[in-house]
Amino acid sequence: MDVTIFGSGYVGLVTGACLAEVGNQVLCVDVDADKIALLNRGGVPIFEPGLEDMIAKNREAGRLSFSTDPDEGVAHGLFQFIAVGTPPDEDGSADLRHVLAVAKSIGERMSGYRIIVDKSTVPVGTADRVAETVRAAQQERGTQVDFDVVSNPEFLKEGAAIEDFMRPDRIIVGTENPRTGELLRALYAPFNRNHDRVMVMGVRSAELTKYAANAMLATKISFMNELSNIAEAVGADIEMVRVGIGSDPRIGYQFIYPGCGYGGSCFPKDVRALEHTATAIGYEPQLLHAVEAVNDRQKDLLFSKMHRYFNGELSGKTIALWGLAFKPNTDDMREASSRRLMEQLWAAGAKVRAFDPVAADEARRIYGERSDLTLVSNRMQAIEGADALVICTEWSEFRSPDFAEIKGQLSSPVIFDGRNLFDPSQVNAAGLTYVSIGREP
Ligand code: UGA
Repeated sequence: MDVTIFGSGYVGLVTGACLAEVGNQVLCVDVDADKIALLNRGGVPIFEPGLEDMIAKNREAGRLSFSTDPDEGVAHGLFQFIAVGTPPDEDGSADLRHVLAVAKSIGERMSGYRIIVDKSTVPVGTADRVAETVRAAQQERGTQVDFDVVSNPEFLKEGAAIEDFMRPDRIIVGTENPRTGELLRALYAPFNRNHDRVMVMGVRSAELTKYAANAMLATKISFMNELSNIAEAVGADIEMVRVGIGSDPRIGYQFIYPGCGYGGSCFPKDVRALEHTATAIGYEPQLLHAVEAVNDRQKDLLFSKMHRYFNGELSGKTIALWGLAFKPNTDDMREASSRRLMEQLWAAGAKVRAFDPVAADEARRIYGERSDLTLVSNRMQAIEGADALVICTEWSEFRSPDFAEIKGQLSSPVIFDGRNLFDPSQVNAAGLTYVSIGREP
């Protein structure tokens, strides 16, 4: 089938590559000429495991191409995916400017039936606004061509996006038109194996499903983070509590890891956008407010533990930091806990020596050259001449370090671990103090 994807960001590229992989003819369109030029040269603007190879393979096979030309885009696909960004506005609501600009562009150009698919995470009611925009653009041109707008939210995890797309848990299709539902079902048939994963529902239910999923996951994390603070205060070990409650299948082991707060481009933004949607209709989303507030407080936790440990004397200290990305297997630092921590350390007069397996360039882009940030190229370099070590991201390569060597390097033998990577007795046996989340007296 012919598919056009507007927006060659994270979601658009993964969607485009995976739909081409199963044999569709995919054209990705983006307004950013530099990005399209890079893609046409075989480059990939983001880091996502497996994506570069998949794009290269499908470009060579002639199933995947890139363009800046909206005329070509609208002419090409029966399916017109909108996968452009929805950056949060000042008030936390999603900014639909780019989504509606694509809708207008489609409306201005379409000459035959099109299925417009909202892939970006957009608030409930957006499909209606997209339809109005397309209709208005057609009216202006004096045309009237049939179309449908479908909500088809993505559930991709950064770092595992290809796998998530190729083997989805569910494929949500929101449409009021059964015929369109069938066409989407056909498009997704190659991904719909073993049992039926396609769920066709009303447009608004599909739109809300996306926010509901992310808000539920964020709630699990904030709940565990709240419990970890209680555990610490009462002398319990949150890791024991986690295993204890996770064994109940109604609770489950996934997404109950306490830590130094959730980050990324999705949870913080989507929780705020859902709060905004609720408040706008006069409903006070108390639980969502709390989920966000708990996360915000959790992001201060590592700094307050360090502040306490050093009796407020952080000025002049050098802190080794392992992990800049908001989670492993990505270079994304949006809303990462490491950022809050570094900014607090700098404000207190400390210096940071940071290592991340892939996010150093991103840190350089965000913070530029500064005398209180040194980016190094391996984990042991970070601790050279440092006073203490702090861990913000659970990269696998941090999981079994040489504790004796760490002890030998640090002037204050202490590890602050925002991800509970180690067994406390093992760290203590090496003569290091171990400050982690939810498990010390
Ligand atoms: C999230 C969802 O997991 C995806 O299903 C969704 O499609 C995506 O948002 C989206 O809306 O596009 P992502 O932001 O890539 O994916 O990251 P997650 O793996 O969900 O992690 C989010 C944050 O939660 C990370 O900072 C992670 O460290 C933290 N986390 C996760 C915890 O603190 N504890 C946990 O138990 C799990």
